[in-house]
Amino acid sequence: MKIETQFLADDPSGRIKAADVLKSGGLLAFPTETVYGLGADARDSHAVARIFAAKGRPQFNPLIVHVASIAAAQKIVAWSDDADRLGGAFWPGPLTLVLPMTPNNGIAPLVSAGLPTLAVRVPAHSLAQHILAAFDSPIAAPSANPSGRISSTSAAHVAANLNGKIDAIIDGGPCDVGLESTIIGLFDRPTLLRPGGLPVSAVEGALGTDLLQIREGEPLTAPGQMTSHYAPNAAVRLNARRAEPGEVMLGFGTVEGDVSLSRSGDMVEAAANLFECLHQLDAKNAPIAVAPIPETGLGLAINDRLRRAAADRGPAA
Ligand code: TXA
Ligand code: MG
Repeated sequence: MKIETQFLADDPSGRIKAADVLKSGGLLAFPTETVYGLGADARDSHAVARIFAAKGRPQFNPLIVHVASIAAAQKIVAWSDDADRLGGAFWPGPLTLVLPMTPNNGIAPLVSAGLPTLAVRVPAHSLAQHILAAFDSPIAAPSANPSGRISSTSAAHVAANLNGKIDAIIDGGPCDVGLESTIIGLFDRPTLLRPGGLPVSAVEGALGTDLLQIREGEPLTAPGQMTSHYAPNAAVRLNARRAEPGEVMLGFGTVEGDVSLSRSGDMVEAAANLFECLHQLDAKNAPIAVAPIPETGLGLAINDRLRRAAADRGPAA
């Protein structure tokens, strides 16, 4: 579906309109010092689902939540001494910290793709800071590029790739750093999850210890690992038309269930509801039958996640 993308300038009226786009559940591309981000209200699951639709990614990747300050980060993640060392030394700046979430923090479960951890960062770009102050709430934002394409470091890059797919782009000039943020997981041992704009040596200096390094895609072996995704305890059966005796049912469209991803068959609504529905059904401690979901648009990412839930479940129920 094509929508009209507004092009906003970095002036008082543009900044107000940018915050209004976020307040109304829209998608806003905005500059950070690293790369442009594709932002949405992190507490609005429907808005967050639209990010994945616009990026056209066949999987749900967890997103970075942008906040105005350490104090704002402390409201949504469980802060620690290491977080204080790194946030204190490098925020605002090109560093993302992955920490356990605080309970009931209001962040939509789709932001972290169902993980119990959350990636947070305080961006240094003055326009990003203005938007965060005006919006006054966390902004979920991956890099503003379609899936599989390089990150955008100017408003023109964003426009070339996402015009007609997002509500607005605010032009804050080219990005100074031009590389994505360095991502550090603050687990049992601080871990480099992605090299980026802040050198590893600077991070290690501030921590006073070496980082554990994992290669991308390599599973973590530590407990509470961050790459393992949410999987229900019970067995999951896909492409079910109806529940067998003893099963609970996840419905979609005309296939009814105990809960439904979307009765009208709307994919954005289905993505927005996915993790909440899985949690609700998992609480019933019964095998889960899942209605067929079309393999189109967001259906690719929804099915990817459901297939994983079906495959990496825990002990048989
Ligand atoms: O510089 C940046 O970091 C830019 C600007 C816009 O802030 N953002 C960015 O976002 O590069 P994105 O979505 O392209 O990359 C975010 C990365 C992903 O590789 C994702 O796997 C990782 O952050 N990530 C997010 N949450 C995570 C979590 N809970 N655990 C582990 N990795 C996480
Ligand atoms: Mg990216």
